[in-house]
Amino acid sequence: MNGREWTFQDLNAIAELEKECFSVEPWNVRMLAESFLSGRFFGSLLEEDGMITAYGAISVTEDEAELELIATAEMYRRCGRAKKIMEDLMAEARRRGAKKMFLEVRVSNSAALLMYLNDGFSGVYARSRYYPDGEDAIVMKKELI
Ligand SMILES: CC(C)(COP(=O)(O)OP(=O)(O)OC[C@H]1O[C@@H](n2cnc3c(N)ncnc32)[C@H](O)[C@@H]1OP(=O)(O)O)[C@@H](O)C(=O)NCCC(=O)NCCS
Repeated sequence: MNGREWTFQDLNAIAELEKECFSVEPWNVRMLAESFLSGRFFGSLLEEDGMITAYGAISVTEDEAELELIATAEMYRRCGRAKKIMEDLMAEARRRGAKKMFLEVRVSNSAALLMYLNDGFSGVYARSRYYPDGEDAIVMKKELI
């Protein structure tokens, strides 16, 4: 599985996948485009038979990277695709000088939580009622050195 960097032309398809993968607050094309054009953003995706099957993105500011989004299309899950995207994002974060990566995850998202824990992230604190539906977020961090 080879990842490739997002292009502006990918944003519509990614916004469609966001709607499939997140019932609350999916990123829309405008949000994706604003981040994509910020100069701090890097996205990686997997494409199979001309379809995007997994995608993720970071933004890097000085020595800190933030995982902005990551998802795998439902029927392609549990085959290592998100793990591959995370590897690409971390490699690019290091290339851009990041020494640590942060992310936020819903407390109920056990699949993502397990993925991050297995990948070496640890919880740093919780943000109470962080999401608009009242759910708490866990902030996680990984040292990239
Ligand atoms: C979380 C998500 C991105 C994982 O994608 P994926 O391609 O299925 O993940 P992978 O196959 O690369 O699995 C990586 C690791 O994550 C963990 N994992 C993934 N799905 C899991 C599940 N359903 N249950 C338990 N652990 C899971 C495992 O540790 C797995 O490693 P292993 O297979 O060696 O045990 C996917 O479930 C998804 O798109 N969910 C909806 C969007 C989302 O919640 N994104 C994260 C927002 S913070």
